[in-house]
Amino acid sequence: MLKVFETEIIESSELSPSTYIVKINGSISYEPGQFVMVSLLEQFSILPRPFSIFYAENGNFSILFKVFGGWTKKLAESPKNTKVRVVGPCGTGFISAMKRYKITHSPSKILFIAGGLGIASLFSSMIHFSKEQKVLIFGGRTQQDIIIRDRIESVPNLDVHITTQDGSLGTKGVVTDVLYNIPFDDFDIALCCGPVPMIKALKEFWDRQAVKVPLLCSMEERMACGIGICFSCVVKTSDNYKLCCKYGPVFLHSELIL
Ligand SMILES: Cc1cc2nc3c(=O)[nH]c(=O)nc-3n(C[C@H](O)[C@H](O)[C@H](O)COP(=O)(O)OP(=O)(O)OC[C@H]3O[C@@H](n4cnc5c(N)ncnc54)[C@H](O)[C@@H]3O)c2cc1C
Ligand code: FES
Repeated sequence: MLKVFETEIIESSELSPSTYIVKINGSISYEPGQFVMVSLLEQFSILPRPFSIFYAENGNFSILFKVFGGWTKKLAESPKNTKVRVVGPCGTGFISAMKRYKITHSPSKILFIAGGLGIASLFSSMIHFSKEQKVLIFGGRTQQDIIIRDRIESVPNLDVHITTQDGSLGTKGVVTDVLYNIPFDDFDIALCCGPVPMIKALKEFWDRQAVKVPLLCSMEERMACGIGICFSCVVKTSDNYKLCCKYGPVFLHSELIL
């Protein structure tokens, strides 16, 4: 259920240059792929920002983020005990989207495709499906983008393929280069999250290769409210425009017009 609460940061750590995990006090009941809107109460901007719920345990939850602009810079600089307002969990996550699109609830083999920070949204799905067989294709520009490798290695029943554009780790290239070696008939579903150009390339690959496995895409639009009021987050679909914060962020690839 959607909650609004004021709380505080209980831990903040830098994972790699400009990438941070922030742990926030408060329990949140969510499904993988949902997100929270976070406001910094004592800062310059009253507008919140959306972040995927990365992990939750023992009455707190974490977000994993990269510094892009002024707001995320402030968050990265915010010490323990900084006051925040949280709205969440927001949006339709992967499990509800599977129901909406009538995709099997109990897949036995799942393909995950993450681009950079997209791993923040997919990680909790990989934990959710811990018993199932899984393959993760994780791409970045350089090895510094391939974050939380120790956590990924601890996920059971997971084979990992890494790609980097500069060849500093894994296969040199982009995630779609690895897809040519994937035996799609073995998979029941594919979940992806990453920058829009990656999602566009995946959608084109699916169409070109006539891949039958349903591909659920978590989209990241600019958002102001996160709860369906401001209409700032529209996504063009084959069935008119949809709100990324309510109907999404998870969409079936075939309905997206990118
Ligand atoms: C549902 C959802 C979940 C998200 N989860 C995460 C997460 O787990 N970790 C994370 O690091 N980020 C996540 N984001 C993106 C995050 O909200 C933005 O990085 C953040 O709002 C940037 O704020 P800023 O003020 O620091 O940057 P701004 O000054 O607002 O922007 C700086 C630069 O980043 C670009 N940018 C900002 N927001 C977005 C966006 N949503 N999509 C594409 N480009 C953007 C801008 O075009 C600009 O070039 C998510 C976004 C959505 C919608
Ligand atoms: S962010 Fe306001 S309607 Fe989606």
